[in-house]
Amino acid sequence: MKEEGLLLSDLPAQFELLIETEINPEANSSLEGLYLSDGAYCTQCEAEGFRRITYYLDRPDVLAKFTTKITADKASFPFLLSNGNKIGEGELENGRHWVQWEDPYAKPSYLFALVAGDFDLLEDTFTTKSGREVALQIFVDKGNLNRAPHAMTSLKNSMKWDEERFGLEYDLDIYMIVAVDFFNMGAMENKGLNVFNSKFVLANSDTATDTDYLGIEAVIGHEYFHNWTGNRVTCRDWFQLSLKEGLTVFRDQEFSSDLGSRAVNRINNVRIMRGPQFAEDCSPMAHPIRPEKVIEMNNFYTLTVYEKGSEVIRMMHTLLGEANFQKGMKLYFERHDGTAATCEDFVKAMEDASGIDLGQFRLWYSQSGTPVLDVTTAYDSSAKTFAMTVKQHTPATADQKEKQPLLIPFDIELYAQDGSVIELQRNGQKVDNVLHVTDAEQTFVFEGVNEAPKVSMLREFSAPVKLNYDYSDEELAFLMVHARNEFARWDAGQMLLAKHIKANVARVQSGESVEIPADVIDAFRGVLLNKELDVALIAEVMTLPSENEIGGWFDVVDVDAINLVRDAFKSAFAKELEDELSAVYHTLAQDEYSIDHAAIGKRTLRNVCLGYLALNGQGDELVNAHYAGSKNMTDTAAALGAANHAQLPCRAALMQSFSDKWQHDGLVMDKWFMLQGCNPAANAWKT
Ligand code: BES
Ligand code: ZN
Repeated sequence: MKEEGLLLSDLPAQFELLIETEINPEANSSLEGLYLSDGAYCTQCEAEGFRRITYYLDRPDVLAKFTTKITADKASFPFLLSNGNKIGEGELENGRHWVQWEDPYAKPSYLFALVAGDFDLLEDTFTTKSGREVALQIFVDKGNLNRAPHAMTSLKNSMKWDEERFGLEYDLDIYMIVAVDFFNMGAMENKGLNVFNSKFVLANSDTATDTDYLGIEAVIGHEYFHNWTGNRVTCRDWFQLSLKEGLTVFRDQEFSSDLGSRAVNRINNVRIMRGPQFAEDCSPMAHPIRPEKVIEMNNFYTLTVYEKGSEVIRMMHTLLGEANFQKGMKLYFERHDGTAATCEDFVKAMEDASGIDLGQFRLWYSQSGTPVLDVTTAYDSSAKTFAMTVKQHTPATADQKEKQPLLIPFDIELYAQDGSVIELQRNGQKVDNVLHVTDAEQTFVFEGVNEAPKVSMLREFSAPVKLNYDYSDEELAFLMVHARNEFARWDAGQMLLAKHIKANVARVQSGESVEIPADVIDAFRGVLLNKELDVALIAEVMTLPSENEIGGWFDVVDVDAINLVRDAFKSAFAKELEDELSAVYHTLAQDEYSIDHAAIGKRTLRNVCLGYLALNGQGDELVNAHYAGSKNMTDTAAALGAANHAQLPCRAALMQSFSDKWQHDGLVMDKWFMLQGCNPAANAWKT
């Protein structure tokens, strides 16, 4: 026995090794390996937890078939679970029993799982497209059965979606999910036996917000989708983590977008990119989506590997189109099913299936940092041409000084003054909306442009880059109304805000007061009153960028000035748009709670309005009434959030009422702690 493991020498070429290991899960507080969560034994093996259970070749490229026999006291541990199919069980003396499991698929040790405990069980079945019946089981803490149905619905939706969109079918006779309170991450995709943080399983309308419901759907989907992208094809080594995580995040984002609002999902993903991911990518932690060195693997489950990794997959999807992308997926599985693969294997499959050269594109896997695009335009009224010059550069990062130009898919659209779309034409030919930016500087000249156009750029956030273009307020207000895509409208609003927030931070820094032009407010008034827009989209347009995202616009982050300016914008919207906000607030009231997307959209916008109205004279009264009249956690949490942010007189009483009602429930009380943590009061630490 060495510090790093067990060393066996002088062995024959082939041998059988029997290891008997004694471990003490009760004393294991690392949440890795086998440990105790509230009286139930459970495991967490990714990335390197299996070695805490026994000596093993604990690397993802060592695939083996596992058989697991569990023996325990039957009264305390009636459920004994592991991967695969149950192949035997029996009773023993002294009240003990045993269960044996066999997983027919070879897997790396990080996908091993074992759970022993007493639970409530929700059961259902799913019939696959080829007609096999799969048993579905969700295990939750005793008494929580009425919070499990949404997870079950989400699981069945995931199974159906993966068959329809990716042609992928489940491959075992049983799929189990166990919810535990003690879990480091959101959830884990162990073969046939997922372990979940109970936050991503348990929900009913009294305890969970709409955001919680959507989070459950996404995480259930994510872990289910890993069955093919992660488990059937796994990673050769941990540097390839984005092979499974970036791809599976892309798949769960598409799942949520196909089931719900595509625009709202895209907006929220982009907010994470522009906020925390961009921040990570210029920090001392900057690393490529496929890192080149790792000291502690647990530190590399990052926004870059996950979220930027998903953006890189999405760019390939944009460049290839859905049909070619799916051909690439098919080829990837034909080549690599049952093996441990690399990011390069994935790109090669996409390249071979589509015939599209991804040579330069591969740099996205090895280069860290956020590229910056500086765009200038020129309209020539006599030649009827419109020229766009795009410069790209990636600032040096802590890990990498030299950067090369990348292949950047740059999605644009041109509009005439009347809002009609101007067809893109270059060198006498009609061209696609997605330009391929490949050089440090490149000019694209469009012909047959009969008037100076308004241009929508980086539509759908077609690449994870920062865009600089000197838009006028009038152009942005135009795009907020006329852009033919919801994301682009939202983004125009964000750019308009960005322009004036930045200018005002500078004003505040030089001792001046905040000034917001009336046309900016009017642009948002127009959106608020637009009856044709999806209410869920209006809610996103009306939501200011986070302080985190605003911080990313500056080299030196003046936290106080940013906070002051953001609050001033919020108050100005509240004051100038009071009548409109109030009207929208009142028309969107709903009697019944349902989690369909139309109902979620209405609640979201109504609660965004509440957040603004809380800042006005009648705020305390309104928020109090909202809390008192609330019949679901979404509205309750919105009232508390508004009271907290606006520091209303009712804040303390509402917080007290909430904790009186929920102090027995850790998951719900997390919301209360979150609010305390976000209390903007100057003396928050004392209260
Ligand atoms: N494989 C991970 C979970 C994991 C990673 C557990 C590392 C332990 C160590 C899982 O598939 C995952 O990525 N879960 C995410 C949620 C997902 C929706 C992005 C999580 O747990 O946050
Ligand atoms: Zn994952």
